[in-house]
Amino acid sequence: TGNVTLDPGFVNTASCSSAITFIDGNAGVLQYRGYPIEQLASQATFLETSYLLIYGQLPTADELADFEHKVSDRMLLDERMRELYRMFPRGAHPMQVLSAGIMALGAFNRDNLDPHDDAQVEEATLRLIGSMPTLAAYAYKSSVGEPFMYPQKKLSYVENYLRLSFGTPVAEYEIDPAVVKAFETLFILHADHEQNCSTATVRMVGSSDANIYASMSAGVNALSGPLHGGANQAVLEMLVKLREDGLDAKTFMNQVKDKKSGVKLMGFGHRVYKNYDPRARIIKSHVDELLRNSSKSNALLDLALELEDTALSDEYFIERKLYPNVDFYTGLIYEAMGFPANYFTALFALGRLPGWIAQWREEHADPKRKIGRPRQIYIGETERDYVPITER
Ligand code: CMC
Repeated sequence: TGNVTLDPGFVNTASCSSAITFIDGNAGVLQYRGYPIEQLASQATFLETSYLLIYGQLPTADELADFEHKVSDRMLLDERMRELYRMFPRGAHPMQVLSAGIMALGAFNRDNLDPHDDAQVEEATLRLIGSMPTLAAYAYKSSVGEPFMYPQKKLSYVENYLRLSFGTPVAEYEIDPAVVKAFETLFILHADHEQNCSTATVRMVGSSDANIYASMSAGVNALSGPLHGGANQAVLEMLVKLREDGLDAKTFMNQVKDKKSGVKLMGFGHRVYKNYDPRARIIKSHVDELLRNSSKSNALLDLALELEDTALSDEYFIERKLYPNVDFYTGLIYEAMGFPANYFTALFALGRLPGWIAQWREEHADPKRKIGRPRQIYIGETERDYVPITER
């Protein structure tokens, strides 16, 4: 194997050069195209941020209006795609249904699958961003057995998404501007995060010249794991279980520190951040106002705050530089807004889609790109002779 070096989990190996997202993990800094996440989260919209990630510059007012218009034109799915959603069993995990939905979207868009044709890539970009709220909402609707809603042109991207998820033909969803603003912010915070597991997967699949829909669906699948985006569901389930079992923060923390228990404090730790995750900091600053009407969520929030305090003053967490990550507080907000826990990660996927697309496009624009093909260190048997089955 010559000069091959082993780096499990790619802890020290850069797989690409990128001009999209900058993270300084020691300082807790996150920037998209050079703009601090704090400024984007408080001042930009999600589609404006998506434009920035994908095209490299903040849009002018005309460019943004044009982008919003094109995206909104593509929110309606082919009517036959509804049949796909009817087929899944009640209770199917929305992430499974979402990844299947994105693959189906590709099958319904066979005229924009060529990764080398710029016009087709542009159409697929708009088609994916436009369809994602509908795909995610239908994944939810199919899991709870409610009828599907159609998007409405007069509504914004986030408004449409919330109505598609929570509206029903008998009870129109009432749009609350505070909730819309919260989701604009949450989606911006999730929009890109350089070479995390799902983004690296998107690039890996893209490197074989598979079509962009196949890459995005692969991203959804990578994101679904509890060590990655699935952590938002896992955090809420952890908090609920702790309350049900009546376990206090200190006892639980002792379980976490006992490596043999296999218990982790979900929503804590990060490969790159060795400081407070700036996304978690922003979310935490909004959590109080967003949970004000929900007594159940407030009890879980108290527990989360207690776990954070206990962890941040504990030698185990200090030594390892473990801080809350983006997933620690989001589940509490989603729960207070009525989302079931198994739908949380689809919200992450909706937010991350523009980042995946931007990274896929950057990969394809690189003239030096190569198929992703890691090496290995072989540790198996040396050559031996085949033994006929009768002699084994
Ligand atoms: N609870 C308890 N111990 C932990 C935790 C945790 N959440 N995270 C890391 N550690 C320990 C780990 O056991 C190891 O200890 P030791 O050095 O004694 O072996 C040390 O801290 C370093 O951790 P690591 O597992 O080597 O770090 P990694 O970079 O390979 O893994 C991680 C990063 C995010 C997978 C991990 O911290 C983790 O499993 N966290 C919980 C799941 C989670 O919240 N994931 C969301 C990540 S952020 C958003 C996203 O990507 O979706």
